[in-house]
Amino acid sequence: MIQSTTVIVETDRLVVRLLRHSDVDAMNRVFGDPEVMRFGNGVQTSEWVRNWLCCCLANYQEKSGVGPWAVIEKSSAEVIGYCGMFYFSNVCGQPETEIGYRLARSYWGRGYATEAARAVLNYAFNILRLPRLISIIDPFNVRSIRVAEKLGMRYEKDVMFEGYTHPDNVYAIEYGKVEETEDCEGINTEDDTT
Ligand SMILES: CC(C)(COP(=O)(O)OP(=O)(O)OC[C@H]1O[C@@H](n2cnc3c(N)ncnc32)[C@H](O)[C@@H]1OP(=O)(O)O)[C@@H](O)C(=O)NCCC(=O)NCCS
Repeated sequence: MIQSTTVIVETDRLVVRLLRHSDVDAMNRVFGDPEVMRFGNGVQTSEWVRNWLCCCLANYQEKSGVGPWAVIEKSSAEVIGYCGMFYFSNVCGQPETEIGYRLARSYWGRGYATEAARAVLNYAFNILRLPRLISIIDPFNVRSIRVAEKLGMRYEKDVMFEGYTHPDNVYAIEYGKVEETEDCEGINTEDDTT
């Protein structure tokens, strides 16, 4: 059963809630798959995933629950990946909040990333009152680009991060430019993730 106090948003098919230490196996299926990590830092170990979860949970305390969140398929109650927000202090000279998503491969192609990200985007604009969101995407990551486009984000510029061999694309959307909106439900971020 999904504890309501950790739920951020809910859609027809998905629940987005705070991550928990017990999500480690589900997150191993995401971070341990080379295809999922093709446009990232490569496959990560179980120990790395455990540390990542610890960092996410610690950051929730400092940032009122904001960060990457678990995405759960309602019909199976399985954790299928994450979707959430990441703060960057300097993207082309300005601070930005990124919307990010990564799902286990067996759940791709069902519209889940778009559904989760759209709900998170509406939460960011309507509840957190953020003025703008970006997505930083490898130009060869066509699936992710398609998700960003479906959210109403538009290509804005390239950004070259230190240590990268080619620039990433910055997709952006400003508050008020959301083409499709859905109501946010269940926005209680009181943390009981232990
Ligand atoms: C990117 C990702 C989250 C998309 O998840 P998803 O649930 O399959 O996404 P959706 O089903 O909502 O949408 C995918 C879109 O890409 C399209 N697509 C899929 N394969 C494609 C391809 N080879 N070329 C072009 N478009 C493609 C789909 O048709 C769909 O668009 P449509 O609804 O217009 O048909 C998932 O592939 C993933 O986790 N990838 C690895 C991690 C990652 O790259 N994250 C993003 C980092 S920026």
